[in-house]
Amino acid sequence: MARSSDEAPDYGRGVVILDNWPGYDLNLFTYPQHYYGDLDSVLIPHGIIVDRIERLAKDIMKDIGNCDIMVLCVLKGGYKFCADLVEHLKNISRNSDRFVSMKVDFIRLKSYKNDQSMGEMQIIGGEDLSTLAGKNVLIVEDVVGTGRTMTALLGNIRKYKPNMIKVASLLVKRTPRCDGFRPDYVGFEIPNVFVVGYALDYNEYFRDLNELVHFDPLLLQHICVINEHGKEKYRV
Ligand code: IMP
Ligand code: MG
Repeated sequence: MARSSDEAPDYGRGVVILDNWPGYDLNLFTYPQHYYGDLDSVLIPHGIIVDRIERLAKDIMKDIGNCDIMVLCVLKGGYKFCADLVEHLKNISRNSDRFVSMKVDFIRLKSYKNDQSMGEMQIIGGEDLSTLAGKNVLIVEDVVGTGRTMTALLGNIRKYKPNMIKVASLLVKRTPRCDGFRPDYVGFEIPNVFVVGYALDYNEYFRDLNELVHFDPLLLQHICVINEHGKEKYRV
């Protein structure tokens, strides 16, 4: 997280986690026992995730809080981020003089198998996108890797002529395969590693969605780096 003093900070990158950041030792935190041995380190503890989202909500409201917002949550990975972000957006709206109408909709995409992008993005669920016509859309995504998923989704959504589209992504990876796409709001810029937890999955594992519904204090709340053993164990 170092920066030379004459370099201006680029807040558009979010909190920058450098490649040489070893992460936190897993033994310093709690996480579900069934994942013991499958993880490498805690990259971002839950508390820091939530603190950062609070600030993203403030930035978003400052920019687009003067209009009604249609939040489009990209399932399933964006679920936790979206829930926490919307909670903060609502709090800010409640405490301001202008009521911001906010609707939340969901879309489901799939592009990864194991830890590799399959290139082609499939929309496999969600509302009829024509309801986005004329709306101010805030897309809420968990992680932008190569950027292909988001570029494909944006291409699709633009066809329905929304008034405005902004993208908030909790994470952006520094990857050489990046197609240049950058979200408008970024929580954290991370090294090119595969991460799980906080609803981000590896082949649907580590997401613990059932536990999200029946609140379980042992769900994987932190964003963690999966290790080779974990990748092998949950490979499909
Ligand atoms: P992209 O098309 O390479 O930008 O990949 C973005 C999509 O892949 C995201 O919507 C995620 O759902 C998924 N993804 C990419 N990297 C990770 C990761 O490290 N953990 C979990 N999901 C990931
Ligand atoms: Mg996603």
